[in-house]
Amino acid sequence: MAPSRTGWTVAVLCGLALSGVEAVPSSTLVDPESTFFSTNLIAYSSELNIDQSDGDLWPTTWADDDNVYTANGDGLGFSTDQADFADCTVSRISGTPETGLSGVRLAAGDALGPIWVNGSYNRKPTGIVAVDGDGDGKDELYLVVQMLNNGTGDVAFNDVPAASILRSTDYGVTWTSTEAPMFTNYVFTTVFFLDFGKSNFQATVLGSDDSKYVYAYGLDNNWRDSVDGSVPDPQSVYLARAPISSIQDISTWEFFSGTAISPAWSSDIAFRQPVLHDTRRVYPGGETVDGFSVISQGSVVYNAPLNRYLYTSWTDYTFEFYEAPQPWGPFTLFAWKDFGVTPWFGLNTTTPKNGGYATTIPSKFISENGTKMWVQSNWFVGAAANSDWNYCFSLRSLEVTKYSPSTPENQPSSTNLAMIDGTVPICKTAHYGHLSYLNDGSTLSEDSWDGSLKDHDRWGYTWPIEYNMNRIVYTTGDSFSDGGWFASNLTVQIRHGFIWEDVTGLAVSPEYPYDSSAVPNKEYTFTFDNAAGDGIQIIGVPGGSWTFTSIGELSVYLNS
Ligand SMILES: *[C@@H]1O[C@H](CO)[C@@H](O)[C@H](O)[C@H]1NC(C)=O
Ligand SMILES: *[C@@H]1O[C@H](CO)[C@@H](O)[C@H](O)[C@H]1NC(C)=O
Ligand SMILES: *[C@@H]1O[C@H](CO)[C@@H](O)[C@H](O)[C@H]1NC(C)=O
Ligand SMILES: *[C@@H]1O[C@H](CO)[C@@H](O)[C@H](O)[C@H]1NC(C)=O
Ligand SMILES: *[C@@H]1O[C@H](CO)[C@@H](O)[C@H](O)[C@H]1NC(C)=O
Repeated sequence: MAPSRTGWTVAVLCGLALSGVEAVPSSTLVDPESTFFSTNLIAYSSELNIDQSDGDLWPTTWADDDNVYTANGDGLGFSTDQADFADCTVSRISGTPETGLSGVRLAAGDALGPIWVNGSYNRKPTGIVAVDGDGDGKDELYLVVQMLNNGTGDVAFNDVPAASILRSTDYGVTWTSTEAPMFTNYVFTTVFFLDFGKSNFQATVLGSDDSKYVYAYGLDNNWRDSVDGSVPDPQSVYLARAPISSIQDISTWEFFSGTAISPAWSSDIAFRQPVLHDTRRVYPGGETVDGFSVISQGSVVYNAPLNRYLYTSWTDYTFEFYEAPQPWGPFTLFAWKDFGVTPWFGLNTTTPKNGGYATTIPSKFISENGTKMWVQSNWFVGAAANSDWNYCFSLRSLEVTKYSPSTPENQPSSTNLAMIDGTVPICKTAHYGHLSYLNDGSTLSEDSWDGSLKDHDRWGYTWPIEYNMNRIVYTTGDSFSDGGWFASNLTVQIRHGFIWEDVTGLAVSPEYPYDSSAVPNKEYTFTFDNAAGDGIQIIGVPGGSWTFTSIGELSVYLNS
């Protein structure tokens, strides 16, 4: 394998080990604020790794020849020859996840363009777009390459002072650079183009004038939390656009500067306004004292069938997915997926569970109805013993249902609502990725150990439509010395209109003991006043020194 890897936390983990600090992260539940989707299901692990590929990041575009063009950081691309290792490699991918994917390495390293900064820096791809900007009837490719610190120790991977755009008129074989970097001074970093589908065609949704541009997002300061604090952490996403005929000419770029009347654009970058500003932090107290900032290198894709813009971001332990009605927002969080601390378990283990970084959703792989997508992401450190990882072009599924108001259904009292088609289990985190154990009809045990001290824990379901319900049966899972039970405040909540509310008239039989005698495999029946909703959860304060709970099964009913 390659000697160095882009941007994960090797340096930080080493730093912690050396300084002897043993901080324990804390974490809490996050309730996404978007009301666009009623359910979202993100696979707990990579599902499709193209094993003959090597590298990370992999921003993608869909060109007029029906191929996907992509670029990876630190790796071989689609090659098995170690001599092909490069800081940045461009490849072509043909096929689909359903029919099979294959890739070809096209160009790499110095053949792409210069390194713009003196010192320890190298090239990393952040965005790519295919569009016919010169009107010759075929697409050119434009690749954003950013200079990333590749020094040793704490500074490694932690700042990105310059970037520029490279152009190819022969589908990625040869590349032409600008004469100077286009983006400097940390104000618009990590530039990635809005993925408007094949040949940028879906930009037509913006109207004929606005479709003559490519749109690109940039982050403030850095490509992710700069763990060593060398530059401030990113908290804002900005939007810019360039005429398709002059993408490499920064003087023709315009920056989104607000929506006071209609979207306004300014050629002065100083007037840029964020389309998303998020100051949340996750898992404080661990690798970063203040927690990981949530704005990171990812992609924004236009999901045409759903007419929605999806920004996929991440932290070291979570996915943070946002949606917006327009390229300029407003972006709101719709999915929060928590993979817990590493070590993770790879695709080839019996308990696959892994997150990853540089999350993207390639437009070519979005289903015709828009509800099924594939998320690309990578990880490589912190693999559990005997586990593989996915330091390669790697996909997992994301399935969504769009919210629409519904009249609550009454199901027969014999129907376990958790078994109905379209049910999506939810949790704080599933230690082994076995979220399906909640409604598999068996008492196989999953738990919520995630390496953090949690103030709350949850298990439950969401549905595409509303149901009436008044009974939930919780079968606990395995017993552990350091957790597995709720310590206090266990209650039942129903989601209605995207708000979780405590049920009324709650009674539990037998009484829940709030100590280790609640496990293993004990059944507790919660009854409550009839309530309508498209989600239900048990929620409380987890117990034990590692503050987690276990679960075997969770069933939901409407008693007549
Ligand atoms: C990098 O160093 C070279 C040689 O000293 C110098 O000519 C060039 O201006 C420097 N570039 C930057 C961006 O500082
Ligand atoms: C940083 O990247 C440059 C360009 O790829 C390479 O020449 C150099 O050896 C790298 N430095 C380290 C410390 O890996
Ligand atoms: C949407 O398409 C996917 C993939 O083809 C399919 O599995 C799903 O059932 C479709 N959903 C609807 C609501 O038609
Ligand atoms: C995973 O298993 C498959 C099938 O045995 C194998 O072809 C592949 O190389 C393995 N991948 C990794 C990353 O270990
Ligand atoms: C548990 O519930 C009580 C009563 O509602 C509340 O005062 C207390 O703050 C809760 N404890 C925790 C840890 O949430």
